[in-house]
Amino acid sequence: MAATRPKYYLTTPIYYTNGLPHIGHTYSTIVCDTVRRYKRMCGYDVVMTTGTDEHGVNVERAARKAGISETEFVSKMAVEWRRTWDELGIQGDEFIRTTDVNHARTVQWLFKLCRDNGYVYKGHYTGQYCIHDNAFVSDAKPGDPCPDCGRPTETVTEENYFFKLSAFQKSLLDFYAKNPNFIQPDTRRNEVLSFVEGGLKDLSITRTSIRWGIPVPGEEPHVFYVWFDALTAYLSAVGGPDYESRRFWPADVHLVGKEIIRFHAVYWPAFLMAAMLPLPKQIWAHGWLLMDSTKMSKSLGNVVRPKPIVDVLGMDALRYFLLREVVFGQDGNFSYDALIQRYNADLANGLGNLASRVLTMIEKYFDGKIPNSLSGVRLLEGEGNPDRGIKETAQFVAGEDVRLAGARGYLVKFDFSRALEAIWTLISAVDAYLTTMQPWVLAEDESKRERLATVLYISAEALRFVAVLAHPVLPDSTSKLWRQLGQTGPLGGQSIDALRWGHLKPGTKIAKAETLFPRVEKAEAIGRMEAMESEPQKPVTAPATGASSGAAAAQSGQAAQADGGYWHGSAADRRRHCPAVRPGQTHWAQSNRCGQSAAPKAAGRGIKRHDRRGRCGSGGTSRPRWLS
Ligand code: MSP
Repeated sequence: MAATRPKYYLTTPIYYTNGLPHIGHTYSTIVCDTVRRYKRMCGYDVVMTTGTDEHGVNVERAARKAGISETEFVSKMAVEWRRTWDELGIQGDEFIRTTDVNHARTVQWLFKLCRDNGYVYKGHYTGQYCIHDNAFVSDAKPGDPCPDCGRPTETVTEENYFFKLSAFQKSLLDFYAKNPNFIQPDTRRNEVLSFVEGGLKDLSITRTSIRWGIPVPGEEPHVFYVWFDALTAYLSAVGGPDYESRRFWPADVHLVGKEIIRFHAVYWPAFLMAAMLPLPKQIWAHGWLLMDSTKMSKSLGNVVRPKPIVDVLGMDALRYFLLREVVFGQDGNFSYDALIQRYNADLANGLGNLASRVLTMIEKYFDGKIPNSLSGVRLLEGEGNPDRGIKETAQFVAGEDVRLAGARGYLVKFDFSRALEAIWTLISAVDAYLTTMQPWVLAEDESKRERLATVLYISAEALRFVAVLAHPVLPDSTSKLWRQLGQTGPLGGQSIDALRWGHLKPGTKIAKAETLFPRVEKAEAIGRMEAMESEPQKPVTAPATGASSGAAAAQSGQAAQADGGYWHGSAADRRRHCPAVRPGQTHWAQSNRCGQSAAPKAAGRGIKRHDRRGRCGSGGTSRPRWLS
């Protein structure tokens, strides 16, 4: 019987659907995709989850502004998010939407477990609430702005269910002490420790001021607070109440931006402890992508979209730039200038140029076949010679010892920047080797044929190492290089552990050298990207022809498959989202998707909600009628 591969489960945050992806979101998703690819090449059975966080007041408002129901709105937005990840070659396994019926069931189940175990009670809460961040602002007075986004807060009084977070202070501190790597990096760990040590207040986990959310069963008008809802998505993506049969829970790592560390490192483990469920193994909080030293964010309007970059430079250029330029865990600046600089220096003149030089010479001098060189394979020559130098550099870079520039060691530590730096030392070493060995001069002397074969064999073998090691970051270009080296089978299916010097088979027919990264002229490329960036984005509005969002999702699902993406459940999503296909289920209120009459609006809410000027803000919007 085949041995079971070890499992690895990692997640991105699930993103709000009241906006579209920018390269800040892209950064988190690319990091996860890189880890996913790397772990697969290390032999793990990996599941990566991403998705969309679709409930809350912001969505209610955005849908109203667009003139469509929330259901329609979030479906369209989810399609856009998924399309973006497909365009970037993201190979996610689960795309979870918080409007999935299975997710709602999981949230309701988790709540029941917490309540049955005595950690939930009913109370009243009055406070200043930031509708943009979906959070009460502690210690704020009426009229105070939200400390995070600067927008005015609103005074909200409502009946809530509370979670006894205060009961978990000791358990959490014990847990952090026993699991020192649970929160990464250390700066965030210290931040969380002092927050928890300062005492924990109970947390309201339901709302009556919001309609667009998952109902608390039998407790209408309570709907779940967005964070109780959103965090649970990590569990619903891998089986929810049946998580044991899927074997992926607990998560190995939740990768998040630093601004949401508290939700992940305090609230989420406390909810799971209350429900007596296994805790995730690690929360890794990365820094922010900055634009002119300010966090890139939709609310500040300083965002850069991934598509123009992908269209002009290719997806690998963006992936490389983000992982090479930003030190993981710290903030990093984005600028088009730096992007082009890196692209031309490291990709076009670095990897691209080296690949083209080596492959062109093999084509020219060896009829397009990997030269037969016993000394290239075995490196029989003595210590300290340049041939051995390349072999050793390749082996060190393929190793785990970071003192020897082991890229794998850096990847394990999520130090992507140093991992790439290490791989590029091999590229530079081969460049320098060629400059010293001058194969084009060797080629002029028939008596040096064996030497020429050795030099080109070694260079091609080093390129094979680069292709395998850089594949998780540069999936597209390394796959091309792999084929150009005459290698068959998907590069992503290669085992990194099996990477050994000398396995490049002499006599293998290579493909014609094809430019991996065409050099670009800086001003022209920036001009093109900026022009695309300033094109207005298509607003999400009511469909002119009555085309349903189900149809849009279907199209996107097909496109995803054609692109090689393989999200689970695109078809299942559509089924789950159309109540008409679930026998015995009611319609979503106001859903216009299947042409049947909508259920009546939910009854009055019994809430008191006031904006800054004291006006009542309880507006009528639609809400889904979940399974009870
Ligand atoms: N929906 C919540 C997360 C719930 S997870 C259970 C949310 N959504 S979000 O759309 O605002 O996404 C926030 C995440 O996007 C950040 O934590 C980070 O991963 C990523 N980023 C958004 N802007 C970013 C930058 N400027 N820089 C780096 N990452 C950024 O919060």
